Amino acid sequence: MTKQATLAAATAVFAAAAAAAVLARQRLREANRWARAGAVLRDLEARCATPAERLRQVADAMAAEMRAGLACDDDSESGDGSALLKMLVTYVDSLPSGVEEGLFYALDLGGTNFRVLRVQLGGKEQRIIKQESKGVSIPKHLMSGGSDDLFDFIAAALANFVASEGEDYHLSEGMQRQLGFTFSFPVKQTSIASGTLIKWTKGFAIDEMVGMDVVEELNKAIRRQGLDMKVTSLVNDTVGTLAAAKYVDNDAIAAVILGTGTNAAYIDHAHKIPKWHGPLPKSGEMVINMEWGNFRSSHLPLTEFDQALDVESLNPGEQIYEKLISGMYMGEIVRRVLLKMAQEASLFADNVPPKLETPDILSTLHMLMMHQDTTPDLKTVGIKLKEILGIESTCYKTRKAVVDVCEVVARRGARLAAAGIYGILKKLGRDTVCPEQRTVIAVDGGVYRYYKFFAQCMESTLSDLLGEEVASSVVIKQANDGSGIGAALLAASYCQCLG
Ligand code: BGC
Repeated sequence: MTKQATLAAATAVFAAAAAAAVLARQRLREANRWARAGAVLRDLEARCATPAERLRQVADAMAAEMRAGLACDDDSESGDGSALLKMLVTYVDSLPSGVEEGLFYALDLGGTNFRVLRVQLGGKEQRIIKQESKGVSIPKHLMSGGSDDLFDFIAAALANFVASEGEDYHLSEGMQRQLGFTFSFPVKQTSIASGTLIKWTKGFAIDEMVGMDVVEELNKAIRRQGLDMKVTSLVNDTVGTLAAAKYVDNDAIAAVILGTGTNAAYIDHAHKIPKWHGPLPKSGEMVINMEWGNFRSSHLPLTEFDQALDVESLNPGEQIYEKLISGMYMGEIVRRVLLKMAQEASLFADNVPPKLETPDILSTLHMLMMHQDTTPDLKTVGIKLKEILGIESTCYKTRKAVVDVCEVVARRGARLAAAGIYGILKKLGRDTVCPEQRTVIAVDGGVYRYYKFFAQCMESTLSDLLGEEVASSVVIKQANDGSGIGAALLAASYCQCLG
């Protein structure tokens, strides 16, 4: 071999060795990246774990807080003696039975949208003859502006809706139009048709309204529109949902909302409510709005992500349970985990995608669309990551890691929601076998309706907690849009009671 040939061969060997070394280094880096991503995921799984034993502790704590809230007279937000669960007395001591008749309106305000609806009730025989509704989205600036601005906007939409009332709706002779007002925030009620706002949740922050009577404000705005209408019932969305469920199924005893926010209402014996000082209702019962979103306990599995989310939220230290299980927050928790995986394990290649650093950019709707992707190569996850976070291309392994994070967060939320329901059943003594007893719990809200994994996981967890025999007598029933119709039904039944 000539000298040149030897040199060329040596150079080729050297280049091949160098290329192999680069490749080996890349592989090692890759392996390290995945090891670090796997470590973050495993740590998350461990910290979000909800074994049955822990869920039983959560349920016991929920039942104990329910009792404490029912005994505590101080419903204010800041009072030293105030309880974690407000357990608000709703003044609803009888639920619609089906005899209600006439034309009634409802206004359902509880999130970024509100809905107006009307219903023509035909009594025992005809029940709901006709109904229609209209959704309106609330401009973001009105959620933190002035009280009059918000109520004028709502009352104007209501006036438009009333103006479109067709001839097939009939107002009874000499009757003024009656409105059921579903207002899905914590309110201390002073009667069936009055109550003051205790605090805002779900991103609303109109400070001047705290402590104000929300019905009075709405009635004033209705008058400003020149509308001849009166609010005759004020209800939380859980209470409306319970009323609508009871209208079709007499065994309904509780309603749960799993949507932007979360909450539950249930029927209790009035004599078991120490803070109720009014006369015992004829029915002997009272619907309680738990405001369970504010529940917290040392048994809740909280992570660094939950803590950071809470600190940076509009209401730090409050609504801790809500921040674990509801639609306003689960997507944001996922974003925070993915950000850590991007920073510490280069999950999305070397650079952290700038959009991933934007709070609330990933909604729970995005989360469920990615989680429920059934394509073999997780194509939807890839599309969503590109659309929402501007991440151009992702490999299968990255997409799968994203799905895994969604699953951990959703499973924890669903199992904790089941523990909450189990807590209510415990408080009511419906967690044991009782022949002939059927227990119906109505559930509504976007998370329950559209996040199938969440709904199924919640239901199977509740069955496991109850045991086969008891579980066979407990029915979780999806309630569709009951919150508005329930308010109209209550407006009807209370208007008849008064008349
Ligand atoms: C509110 C409750 C409401 C729930 C569901 C919570 O943030 O405090 O009043 O029922 O969201 O809409």
